[in-house]
Amino acid sequence: MDLPAVETPTEATAAPSLVALADATFEQVSPYDGVGFRHHCKRLFTFATMLMEAEGLSLDRDLAYLIAMVHDLGLVSEVDQGHNYLQRSRALFERITKNVDLPEHDPQIVTECLLYNHRLLPVPNLSPTADCFRRAVIIEHSRGLKRYGLDRDTVKTTFGKYPRGNFDRVLLDFTWRTIKREPLTLVSGVFFGAGPAAHTPTV
Ligand SMILES: [Fe+2]
Repeated sequence: MDLPAVETPTEATAAPSLVALADATFEQVSPYDGVGFRHHCKRLFTFATMLMEAEGLSLDRDLAYLIAMVHDLGLVSEVDQGHNYLQRSRALFERITKNVDLPEHDPQIVTECLLYNHRLLPVPNLSPTADCFRRAVIIEHSRGLKRYGLDRDTVKTTFGKYPRGNFDRVLLDFTWRTIKREPLTLVSGVFFGAGPAAHTPTV
């Protein structure tokens, strides 16, 4: 499938809209009709930011949105490289933000958010912010049965605000793509495996 590459700005942009960049990237890279995939990402953003707020963690909200919207795009990107889809999502993130002035952040934390969000078990040395993304994925896939202290009604409202749509069909396609392209990552590196090196904040 030939998908257009997302244009990378050639010069640093003073005040880029990361939300616009996230939405445009998603539109260009996602091959799916329907709202399922998009709403999955928006629920993930909502749960992750809820957890961060509840736990006193700060990550720029628009940057968190960009991370959430691209976190699975490595599964469908035709131009980004990496030995598994998480690495390709990270490569995509780096490609589209290469010349963008991002808000102050710790690059290691962003990398961890992108590489470890689909881990089922707690990851040694993972930053608390990246662990919010990891647990947000579990809230999402447990359909709110697991909430890590978040209010039941608020979580339920999020599922109502962003309906599931055709996401089950999208998940089936994700699985098929993974089996075809990287079957070993189903057991090694995506759901289980080692964590990052001991975290050293840079900012
Ligand atoms: Fe996901």
